Amino acid sequence: MALLEVKTAGDPILKQICASVKKIDKRVKKLLDDMAETMYATDGIGIAAPQVGYSLRMIVVDVDHKRYDMLNPEITYREGSEVDLEGCLSCPNLFGEVERATKIRVKFMTRYHKEKEIEAEGLLARCIQHEIDHLNGRLFIDIAKNITKGKPQTESDQEN
Ligand code: CO
Repeated sequence: MALLEVKTAGDPILKQICASVKKIDKRVKKLLDDMAETMYATDGIGIAAPQVGYSLRMIVVDVDHKRYDMLNPEITYREGSEVDLEGCLSCPNLFGEVERATKIRVKFMTRYHKEKEIEAEGLLARCIQHEIDHLNGRLFIDIAKNITKGKPQTESDQEN
């Protein structure tokens, strides 16, 4: 495994619509593992392939010690709405309030070629929505309110 360089806001790859993963080969599996390693090394809870220089529809999330590798993820259902603080590995030291669905269903391919659909709520749902935005060229700072430099105190830790 290897640590990858995280691209930051201003890099054009973060504005692109990513391509679907067509074939789950060794290269794709290695990229998932490298993305996970990079995410854990930077204390993130989610990471998307364009953040490490690959314009592909791949995300890795781990909110509660359960890692999900998602290929071609698609939200199939959303419910409710809530506003909470977000950060992003690609926007160092910026925080802002983002409105997201409270509960979602997301469909994706696993690294073992299985199609899967899971339900997520709260922070996991927020993280998945944030990462899928990356696949569509959208950063949280494009949609956040009350963006601050540095974390406002008393807020919980959420870097995606
Ligand atoms: Co992010």
